[in-house]
Amino acid sequence: MSTHADTVARAAELVRHKLGDEHAVAIILGSGLGALAERLEDPVSLPFRAIPGFPPVSVSGHTGRLIAGTLGATRVIVAAGRYHLYEGHSLDTVVLPARVLHAVGARTLFVSNAAGGINRTIRPGDLMIIEDHMNLTGRSPLSGPQLPNETRFPDMSAPYDPALIAMLRDTALDAGIPISSGVYAALLGPSYETPAEVRMLERLGADAVGMSTVPEVLVARALGMRVAGVSCITNTAAGMSNSPISHAEVLATTARAAVSFERLVTAFVQRLAGREHSDAEREAEL
Ligand code: HPA
Repeated sequence: MSTHADTVARAAELVRHKLGDEHAVAIILGSGLGALAERLEDPVSLPFRAIPGFPPVSVSGHTGRLIAGTLGATRVIVAAGRYHLYEGHSLDTVVLPARVLHAVGARTLFVSNAAGGINRTIRPGDLMIIEDHMNLTGRSPLSGPQLPNETRFPDMSAPYDPALIAMLRDTALDAGIPISSGVYAALLGPSYETPAEVRMLERLGADAVGMSTVPEVLVARALGMRVAGVSCITNTAAGMSNSPISHAEVLATTARAAVSFERLVTAFVQRLAGREHSDAEREAEL
């Protein structure tokens, strides 16, 4: 019988063959944020549908491909598009790209998403550094058989790397990009929340709400990857303004915020590479 570990291995073999395995940073792009991939130099692209075990992508705003290339002189591998629980995919499928990105060498994972703003100081079009999250999907991709290279009980006291959070903040400041930070709550979806649910989330301490990202972060932490993430706030969460929420609005606002997002991620990756370079130099001197 073929196990999930076999599925990961088969997919990784193909990705390694087509895109290589020297990727320092993996980036998962959320709804409407796929244009960052156009910024890559020397891009090599692989559609999800060409990768064994990767089903077709169905949400509009998600193209579904892996692109390897150089961003700010750093080798990166980008997943433009993702699988969501609300599409009916299994958790194994939802986190398959993250596991494959790790298997082809990435040790830092940058996640992004579109999210509704709960914190009243965060406005549509703003970017929010994800400082922490709440898994309110009721599910974990780590339940079930343990994968050989994953920890059974990963520590989640700092799911988003504090040094990377600080680096993101510095990068945004230097680039003149306004940014806030906060807690991302992941729900199953696909309906947007009710006003009562948003009031509940506010009282629980969530600053933004969405339907993704947390499964990938759980797997990344179990694999020992360093994680950083940004939410693109596309709307005020339900009940906090008079207007209803539509997926078209979410995509339109993301398009507005995407330019700052792309500048931020490019400068962040550049800074990260510089830091790792100087860390390596320091180690070499010791
Ligand atoms: N709720 C959940 N997910 C979302 C939202 C929202 O308001 N906006 C974008 N993704």
